[in-house]
Amino acid sequence: MDKKVVYSAVQPSGNLTIGNYVGAIRNWLSMQEDYDCFFAIADLHAVTVRHEPAELRRRTAELAALYLACGIDPSRCALYVQSQVSAHAELCWLLNSVAYVGEMSRMTQFKDKSAKHEDNINMGLLDYPVLMAADILLYQTDYVPVGADQKQHVEIARDIAARFNNRYGETFRIPEPLIKKEGAKICSLQEPTKKMSKSDENPNASVLLTDDRDTVLRKFRRAVTDSDGEVRYAPAEKPGVSNLLAIYAAFKGCSPEEAAGEFAGKGYGDLKTAVGETVSDALAPVQAERERLLKEKTYLAGVLAEGAEKAFRAARRTLSKVYRKMGFYRGE
Ligand code: TYM
Repeated sequence: MDKKVVYSAVQPSGNLTIGNYVGAIRNWLSMQEDYDCFFAIADLHAVTVRHEPAELRRRTAELAALYLACGIDPSRCALYVQSQVSAHAELCWLLNSVAYVGEMSRMTQFKDKSAKHEDNINMGLLDYPVLMAADILLYQTDYVPVGADQKQHVEIARDIAARFNNRYGETFRIPEPLIKKEGAKICSLQEPTKKMSKSDENPNASVLLTDDRDTVLRKFRRAVTDSDGEVRYAPAEKPGVSNLLAIYAAFKGCSPEEAAGEFAGKGYGDLKTAVGETVSDALAPVQAERERLLKEKTYLAGVLAEGAEKAFRAARRTLSKVYRKMGFYRGE
């Protein structure tokens, strides 16, 4: 029997945070064994906010090195850059005719980003979920492992797929989001009810995957908590402390409640130090490997070219089916 298909991607739009790691990339690793995996660098998505061309190029290579350093194995999946497989942009255009402006303008991320970039509410920002649907649907994906913030985008991809199938006949498999309970929403260290984000302007809010040990320890020391002094996992009541416990638990591989048990009778200072040390211990080998790989420019380019080939071979099948179903002339 054919293996089930897994698809996910990260935008090269800033320095990745431990939220991206715990909510997404880390969960991909074990899937490489049992599924047909496609892991992309979503550079076409990244240009929907203003960017520096040189920075986009550098960040794309850095993200590829990071994927590899985290344990993504190019011999067991397709690791590639989205813009190198033109089928993504093509399918996006075709799907645009079954996606409605109304539903796109109601998407949470569109509303947030429009509010944040008032002077640059471009068409790409509105179309972002359709491109993401194209990413997923091109590969006849079964599962999309993402953090909680991307659930709405996977749901719209499902709606678009079902609508297309309904109109033109069975074409796309309907994908399912795969959201792990633990680590699905790592929050900001400064405003612990908000998600930790790579685009946060406050440098103390996010722990970056490239932060050195001292920086990681300092950011956790400065994390916002509360004044009651008791280490307990209660997200609604104690968002700051609970977020620290969730991070600790995600890196230790236990539940936040178990983590809280470890700190019974201890203070917030102990918790902050322990989380900081655990996170920086886990990041150190990934950082060293990322640095090493970044110097191997030819190797990196080769891996990505091969990944794009692999992805293209799979994408081509779906794309020709879509052209055919929609009635595009192909000589017969
Ligand atoms: P992006 O680049 O914003 O985030 C990449 C992944 O990290 C997860 N994530 C988090 N998880 C837990 N806690 C957090 N604080 C946190 N912040 C981010 C995100 O949920 C995501 O899984 N649109 C996507 C990229 C994309 C994509 C796709 C994903 C493009 N095409 C197709 C899946 C399938 C995005 O912006 O992710």
